[in-house]
Amino acid sequence: MQVITTVKEMQALSKKMKAEGRSIGFVPTMGALHEGHMSLVRSSINDNDITIVSIFINPTQFGPNEDFNRYPKDHKGDMKKISALNVEAVFLPGVAEIYPKGFSTFLYVGGIGGVLCGASRPDHFNGVATVVAKLFNAVMPERAYFGQKDFQQTVVIRKLVKEMNFDTDIIVCPIVREPDGLAMSSRNAYLNEEERMSAVILNKALHYGRELMLSGREKQTSSIRAKMDALIKSAPLVTIEYIEIVGPQYLEKMKDVTFPAVICLAIKIGNTRLIDNIIVRSDEQSAVSFQQREKM
Ligand code: PAF
Repeated sequence: MQVITTVKEMQALSKKMKAEGRSIGFVPTMGALHEGHMSLVRSSINDNDITIVSIFINPTQFGPNEDFNRYPKDHKGDMKKISALNVEAVFLPGVAEIYPKGFSTFLYVGGIGGVLCGASRPDHFNGVATVVAKLFNAVMPERAYFGQKDFQQTVVIRKLVKEMNFDTDIIVCPIVREPDGLAMSSRNAYLNEEERMSAVILNKALHYGRELMLSGREKQTSSIRAKMDALIKSAPLVTIEYIEIVGPQYLEKMKDVTFPAVICLAIKIGNTRLIDNIIVRSDEQSAVSFQQREKM
């Protein structure tokens, strides 16, 4: 497995692979890899001739009071996990390679970049869009793999690809959960024992919300959100940032219960901010169109 640290070398490898007619699958990550990331890597290996994984903790997607400086790092563990799979190369640029001195060209994600997580993290999706565009220009992948756990990010990236004419298919893979339902996230490492126990409330609340939506008894999303709010507040150490029920394509807030919809949550447990979501389809839609991979 090659380790590549410069954009030039990355582009050279990708061009060579393309010239040989080999398809490139790409899994961008910020490291501290867990089973959620590894499921993306496995999907890419399954679908493509070669797979490239990037590890880059992107400073521009963190706000001034966020966890950039203490974001979990596990270089040795990451390399061990990736090298156990059939990955062609790891792209491991430093900050100065991605943002050289004087760098001042950023993408701005209007509209959907300012809702849900974007409301409390105003520059977050600008930073994500900018780095993903730069990584795509370095790797030039046919397909790129993202986890559904960051649902808003997947919508932002699909829009980025469409509006900036990237020739890359975006594949969104299902959320990978711990046995008790907590969505896997590098930030779960911040939780102490008591906080970890409280964190199961996210997934419980999402399933409760889904049941209420499908029950047919609730017509307004406001009453479902209020019931979820009460359930979440019954868990210790929890502060709710938002509970929203939105459309899957444009993230518009839904007033009436309609399908398909996505219930999205952001919650703080102690000092740790966690997000999670569930896609809700009517029973009929689920029967017809349930797929392992979301293509929306
Ligand atoms: O989801 C992540 O890990 C990051 O937001 C990404 C897509 C690698 C961009 O830094």
